[in-house]
Amino acid sequence: MIRSRIVGTGSYLPPRIVTNDELAKRIDTSDAWIQERTGIKQRHIAEESQTSSDLALEACRRALDAAGLKAADIDLIIVATSTPDFVFPSTACLLQAKLGVKGCPAFDVQAVCSGFVYGLGIADNFIRSGTHKRALVVGAEVFSRILDWNDRGTCVLFGDGAGAVVLAAGEQPGIHATVLHADGSQAGILSVPGNVCGGRIVGSPFLQMQGNQVFKFAVKVLDEVARETAVAAGIGLDQVDWLIPHQANVRILEATVKKLGMARERLVVTVDRHGNTSAASVPLALDEFVRAGKIKPGHKVMMQGVGGGFTWGASLVTM
Ligand code: COA
Repeated sequence: MIRSRIVGTGSYLPPRIVTNDELAKRIDTSDAWIQERTGIKQRHIAEESQTSSDLALEACRRALDAAGLKAADIDLIIVATSTPDFVFPSTACLLQAKLGVKGCPAFDVQAVCSGFVYGLGIADNFIRSGTHKRALVVGAEVFSRILDWNDRGTCVLFGDGAGAVVLAAGEQPGIHATVLHADGSQAGILSVPGNVCGGRIVGSPFLQMQGNQVFKFAVKVLDEVARETAVAAGIGLDQVDWLIPHQANVRILEATVKKLGMARERLVVTVDRHGNTSAASVPLALDEFVRAGKIKPGHKVMMQGVGGGFTWGASLVTM
């Protein structure tokens, strides 16, 4: 049976760091409030000239290097993003051109902060079916572009960045199971309710959020989907070495690991330094812990997404 395995990880953070103190100079907030409610200390913000495909390109180059592969070896490109370069063509097509290759399918996945886990599930199915052998799955975001920088309830939470993995066909998993869900009836609690029509933006181009409702929903579904994925994989939660939930807020992460009865030491946290980078957060965190030598070959890692839609999902992998 063909299975898919992560054979390389990479990530990229734009160099510019914006601290909480810097935000507090512009809006009515404080480093103490942001850290206490979210655990976030800083976030990286892209230059005006940098787009999601630029960030994705850097992350992909690093993932390809780590895998010992060239872009020409890739036969499927999936980019998870809610901040695409354009309405169309897709960021994945633009990334493909920047990688200097052509021919293989390339498309975007729009599942907001669950986008990377959705992409992983899709690529895993392509590889298992035998039609494709090596996929780039990328999460890339410039959320700084869809924030109202005067809205202290949202702008302090997010950052920009990209993360990528190379998935390759093999005989051993790899990806044991991916479980995906959505509930469109919750669309209103986290959204950017605007669109382009007749040369104008109709509605709002900025992120809107009911913070409390999002918080409660996220903790509930992250717990449920971790259990469901462990059952689907036939692997006990006690065998999972690392939990990488979508990096939204330290309090959400800590509540999740506690509800699951897992040790705090197994929780991967990067939101303190990255902020919430939406679809990029999970592969960014994965790459950081792989490169630090904490996540090692053979370790079992539960990756989880949750975000606008509402969407949520998890993937349990052996590295
Ligand atoms: N600085 C200072 N005060 C702030 C603030 C900020 N950046 N943002 C909000 N406040 C104020 C509010 O105006 C409110 O003031 P009031 O009591 O005078 O009305 C007070 O702080 C409490 O606001 P509340 O929204 O109840 O705080 P909270 O404890 O729920 O924390 C969030 C707010 C946004 C941090 C929290 O709800 C959260 O993290 N939600 C999930 C967000 C998320 O992860 N979204 C992405 C998911 S993919």
